[in-house]
Amino acid sequence: MASGKFITFEGGEGSGKSTQAKLLADRLRAKGIDVVLTREPGGSPFAEQIRELLLSGNLAPHPPLAEALLFYAARADHMATTIRPALAAGRWVICDRFSDSTRVYQGGAGGLGADVLAELERLVVGAGQPHLTLILDLAPALGLARAEARRTGPGDVACAEADPYERRDLAFHERLRAGYLAIAGAEPARCAVVDAAEAADAIAARVWSLVESRLLAGRP
Ligand SMILES: Nc1ncnc2c1ncn2[C@@H]1O[C@H](COP(=O)(O)OP(=O)(O)OP(=O)(O)O)[C@@H](O)[C@H]1O
Ligand SMILES: [Mg+2]
Repeated sequence: MASGKFITFEGGEGSGKSTQAKLLADRLRAKGIDVVLTREPGGSPFAEQIRELLLSGNLAPHPPLAEALLFYAARADHMATTIRPALAAGRWVICDRFSDSTRVYQGGAGGLGADVLAELERLVVGAGQPHLTLILDLAPALGLARAEARRTGPGDVACAEADPYERRDLAFHERLRAGYLAIAGAEPARCAVVDAAEAADAIAARVWSLVESRLLAGRP
């Protein structure tokens, strides 16, 4: 059976990754494509346990390498348990954050060397790179305001605490944005930058046109 396609969504806090990942999954499913919608850190039972630890805000001080290894421990299990088997079965995988997040959060903005992260990526991801990475680009102040509104607004999902990354200063978030744009510039065949300041449906339309032209062209 033909292998499925692997799509990742990347971008700063509140840039709309989860919203767009869900909209794309719905649209592909409506076309009859079997989709696994997953996220990082997490996406498998063991990786979700590591997610809880990483995002708890209760971590004792630790060096950036230790943190990157935790993300990669989660990713190794997620790849082995969820992503590789799904793709091998011909299913499409949409992942909300993946290794580019580690490159920019722990690397460019976090201080860990790009060579170290490249080595971890080689070990864990190897040839399993995404076929398409959609980088949602947004001014950090806007993304943080959206994330804040989601947390404090009305509704059932309100009142979760800001995670440790959301609480970092604006300069950190500007470095994240620059880091993502640098990745897109260096790997144009895999990545596409999408302006995330627009309305959600306009972004979804842009995402869909990229998926059509890059992954669906030539399919029946
Ligand atoms: N294009 C948009 N315009 C305005 N608000 C949006 C847009 N897309 C999503 N939102 C809202 O902004 C908030 C953040 O969106 P979402 O959760 O999809 O972002 P995210 O990138 O997954 O955030 P996080 O980095 O925190 O996981 C949500 O409340 C969502 O409903
Ligand atoms: Mg999200």
